[in-house]
Amino acid sequence: MDFKDGQEPNIIELRKVGQSYDGGQSWIIKDLDFLIEDKAGQGEFVVILGMSGCGKSTLLRYIAGLQKPTEGEVLIHGKPVSESDRVSMVFQQYSSLPWMTVLENVSLALKYKGVDKKEREERAMELIQLVGLDGHEQKFARYPTLSGGQLQRVAIARSLIANPDIILMDEPFGALDINTRLQMQDLLAEIWMKFHPTVIFVTHDISEAVYLGDDIYIMKSPPSRFVRHIKVDLPFHRSKQTKREARFVELVREVEDAMIEVSQMG
Ligand SMILES: Nc1ncnc2c1ncn2[C@@H]1O[C@H](COP(=O)(O)OP(=O)(O)O)[C@@H](O)[C@H]1O
Ligand SMILES: [Mg+2]
Repeated sequence: MDFKDGQEPNIIELRKVGQSYDGGQSWIIKDLDFLIEDKAGQGEFVVILGMSGCGKSTLLRYIAGLQKPTEGEVLIHGKPVSESDRVSMVFQQYSSLPWMTVLENVSLALKYKGVDKKEREERAMELIQLVGLDGHEQKFARYPTLSGGQLQRVAIARSLIANPDIILMDEPFGALDINTRLQMQDLLAEIWMKFHPTVIFVTHDISEAVYLGDDIYIMKSPPSRFVRHIKVDLPFHRSKQTKREARFVELVREVEDAMIEVSQMG
């Protein structure tokens, strides 16, 4: 392990990762390297772009410790990934438990940890307020009792409760209407400012990628690996106004061009 003097190990590191489902005849992912450095207490907002089927969800499953690659290494905080790492995940599909209330869903992870009821409900209520769902805590976390946007708010609150330092988000706003989606982007930006986790965010929406991301990584189609890295040099605090600024528009175009170029790679 390469610990640089006095420095923390990298928060996420994938080394020479490959994925094959047919005994190595064909590779979905091949020779993929991915490195997110730990910036103590600062976190980073990383966006992954790439065509459907290139392995984005697979990568998130590696980082969550839900799947092992066919070859290569996945290190979290410099150690092989294990389920005990503080990683949580938000999916596009509503992943809350529909037979439980909002409050029960959000506090569930603390129940597993043995936190007593009073404390876990207090902590859950703070997060329910943070995501704008106070007043809804006793409702069942299911559609249409709650709207799609509200259910994703529940999912975000659930992902925050165990105080993770890595949050994986797999097209979390992909099923939402455009206005709800824009609101959720601002909510997520606000939450990120508050907690500074490392977020790995998968989306197909380039404007969303530039608005939320510090770094955008683009994957090529299989055999996949990262082929572009675009640093988003926009101010730290972003608002609706940011989207009107010349640099924002320029970055969106830059990412679009990169996506077209990548789509033509073999
Ligand atoms: N268990 C499996 N067996 C065979 N192929 C699989 C399996 N799981 C995923 N794949 C394939 O791996 C590729 C990458 O999937 P995925 O990570 O979901 O891509 P993305 O999220 O970028 O759309 C897809 O072509 C998918 O069909
Ligand atoms: Mg996917």
